[in-house]
Amino acid sequence: MIIIKSQEEINIMRESGRVTAYILSELSNFIRPGISTKEIDEFVEDIIIKNNMIPSFKGYNGYPSSVCTSVNEEVVHGIPSADKILREGDIISVDVGSTHKGYVSDAARTYPVGKISEEAQRLIKSAEESFFEGLKYCKVGYRLSDISAAIQRKAESDGFSVVRDFVGHGIGKSMHEEPQIPNYGNPGRGPRLAPGMVFAIEPMINQGSYEVEVLQNNWTVVTVDRKLSAHYENTVVITDGEPELLTLFDV
Ligand code: MF3
Ligand code: CO
Repeated sequence: MIIIKSQEEINIMRESGRVTAYILSELSNFIRPGISTKEIDEFVEDIIIKNNMIPSFKGYNGYPSSVCTSVNEEVVHGIPSADKILREGDIISVDVGSTHKGYVSDAARTYPVGKISEEAQRLIKSAEESFFEGLKYCKVGYRLSDISAAIQRKAESDGFSVVRDFVGHGIGKSMHEEPQIPNYGNPGRGPRLAPGMVFAIEPMINQGSYEVEVLQNNWTVVTVDRKLSAHYENTVVITDGEPELLTLFDV
């Protein structure tokens, strides 16, 4: 069942989303060669706590940190570490969740570390643009898989591939609610979209093959071919009109 949120609930999620959005925007200045992914975790956790919110990821199924930091061939769920030092030319996805009054917002961006290759820039852009292609279908009148199909169409037309094993999701009191939202598939399937649905839509786009595997730590997801992967995510509300992005300003 897809839980429809009331206006009061959406108001709370909007406040939560503002903090998540603010963090992701601050990270573009904070991320640079020489810092560790642990420093990113501390930076983010500090902002969440100063805003009287709770890091949604910490303790979730035993996850040890407040953010996921996934570098280069890491797709999602990279665990921050003092030993993982960013180098010029890396790309890093940072995934952040903030819980406010029991409601979660969830979003991710992929950042360049210093100067990166043109191919890496293209990959980051494709993940972001495929999200916005999907967003065009986040409206009453469309069905869930119209979002999925639009994301896949864009990423593949850029020459990249879409991760199959991890998906977007409904979000609210729980970080992961129904429905699952794949980033691939045929259009015209699944539930019809309705006002008050809230989704975390999160394309994970690979430079090479879409195949991924989970490392020995049981968290970190990497590409099987060890080519690059980029991730872009926002928490989105379906309304009577245009979708509302809770985790991004000025669009
Ligand atoms: N944004 C991720 C997701 O949607 C966050 C979960 S990571 C975890 O699944 F560490 F919290 F599990
Ligand atoms: Co998510």
